[in-house]
Amino acid sequence: MIFITFEGPEGSGKSTQIKVLQAYLIKSGFSVVKTREPGGSVIAEKIRRILLDPKSRAMAPETELLLYLASRAQHVKDKIRPALKNGKIVICDRFFDSTLAYQGYARGFSGKLLTSFNNFATGGLKPDLTLYFDLDIKLGLKRAQKRTGKKDRLEAENKAFHEKVRKGYLTIANMEPGRIKIINALSSIEEIAGKVAMYVDRKLKNAEKHNRPR
Ligand code: TMP
Repeated sequence: MIFITFEGPEGSGKSTQIKVLQAYLIKSGFSVVKTREPGGSVIAEKIRRILLDPKSRAMAPETELLLYLASRAQHVKDKIRPALKNGKIVICDRFFDSTLAYQGYARGFSGKLLTSFNNFATGGLKPDLTLYFDLDIKLGLKRAQKRTGKKDRLEAENKAFHEKVRKGYLTIANMEPGRIKIINALSSIEEIAGKVAMYVDRKLKNAEKHNRPR
């Protein structure tokens, strides 16, 4: 059916909104699969552990990139494509835009290389709708650490790194305004949930109109 992704920095409140959206869609009669990246399927979750382990500090940027893509390749095959084929709405916490923002804009890999590697990993699967939660970096990191009490490997990167991630997201969002919607993560939970539901309803109506097979 349709593929929705949530993007944004650490602590932007996307997990809360994913849960709210899932409940809203189920109540409206849809069948929903909620998942996340890195991870989302058995093998992909094993790769996630390596990626986020604070002990993996010495990981080369090339290894990091390939592991994110390896996780994605497995996840798309095991879970996302089968669910879409079965008429489900897939909600995924992070997808390729994270790779573009973190490994592209922040780590410095070229967008062309990333797009080509990503197409190889996913067979060209693209989200129908992406909700990007925008938030001041310092605030986001504070919120993320308050929640978990510790930093994972990516959260431990410095402020300049996270600033680049944010700028990257904003650039990507401005390049694809049809697919990516920017949401102010500082608005109230109810206000954000209302916006998210509006964007999703619009996409669903559109998908119904076109009823395109995948
Ligand atoms: P999270 O599940 O807590 O959001 O952690 C995932 C981390 O991995 C987060 O810091 C963003 C990062 N990430 C990348 O750097 N590249 C990617 O392609 C993905 C999916 C996530």
